[in-house]
Amino acid sequence: MNGGCAFVVGGSGGLGSAICRTLASEWEQVAIGYRSGKEKADALVQEIGPDRAFAVHCDLRNMDSIGSAIAEAAHLSKKIGTMVFGGGVPISQPFVSKISEPQWREVLETELIGFTRIVSATLPQFRKQNGGNFVSVVSVATHSYPPGDALSAVPKAGIEMLGRAIAKEEGRFGIRANMVAPGIINAGLGAAFLRELYTPKIWEAQRQRIALRRFGSGEDIAEAVRFLASERARYITGQTIIVDGGFSL
Ligand SMILES: NC(=O)c1ccc[n+]([C@@H]2O[C@H](COP(=O)([O-])OP(=O)(O)OC[C@H]3O[C@@H](n4cnc5c(N)ncnc54)[C@H](OP(=O)(O)O)[C@@H]3O)[C@@H](O)[C@H]2O)c1
Repeated sequence: MNGGCAFVVGGSGGLGSAICRTLASEWEQVAIGYRSGKEKADALVQEIGPDRAFAVHCDLRNMDSIGSAIAEAAHLSKKIGTMVFGGGVPISQPFVSKISEPQWREVLETELIGFTRIVSATLPQFRKQNGGNFVSVVSVATHSYPPGDALSAVPKAGIEMLGRAIAKEEGRFGIRANMVAPGIINAGLGAAFLRELYTPKIWEAQRQRIALRRFGSGEDIAEAVRFLASERARYITGQTIIVDGGFSL
């Protein structure tokens, strides 16, 4: 067991809930961060076990909410071992030529500025504890760009760069930062895309582009997060693991 808790921002989401379930197997406690999905977070607490998990309200657009959530988790668990950033905005896949300023502002404010808020509130806690790590869910789109994905990919590029900056500057305090970049995943937003965005024929053509010939699952992403968050990855920092079944090759 890793000591302290794993805090999952966006724990009520499709990928976040898979990450919470997986991390529960090797962290003393899991703090399930939610914004509007209290019922989902509470159900997950019951599933994992109320002695091993608790739900915390954490709104990425509000620094006070983030500060209280992190203080609560540090108080309940004594230590935050890993901060997993898995929150994000649902997007409709417009091309760059069609994206309005309010749409850019929403994703940048929630995801990129939201992550800077999480970092500002977590770093003092990590330094106080003499260590800790960040694992952020980003996207394969920053490595192999699928048209229509800019609203997701642009903030993720900033989050990835900030992860590398944290790795370089904070390593001397025993703090690591890494990223997991999902491909096409049949969970959360990805599952909605598979149902609604394109015809089955188009998705079948996409599946054929994947080396392993299947879409990923939430558990596929969660396994990479589990590794990077753990002591087994103690000498890995500033890195991105692409989990896409070979889609971007
Ligand atoms: N699923 C995929 O195929 C895939 C692929 C590549 C990248 N990603 C990225 O992975 C991340 C998670 O995706 P997902 O599929 O799990 O999405 P999802 O199922 O829609 O979950 C989104 C999560 O983000 C939270 N959230 C939204 N706005 C928030 C805010 N202002 N403050 C705090 N939390 C907020 C939601 O909380 P509430 O529901 O509680 O409001 C929810 O927990 C996204 O950034 C997405 O772009 C996903």
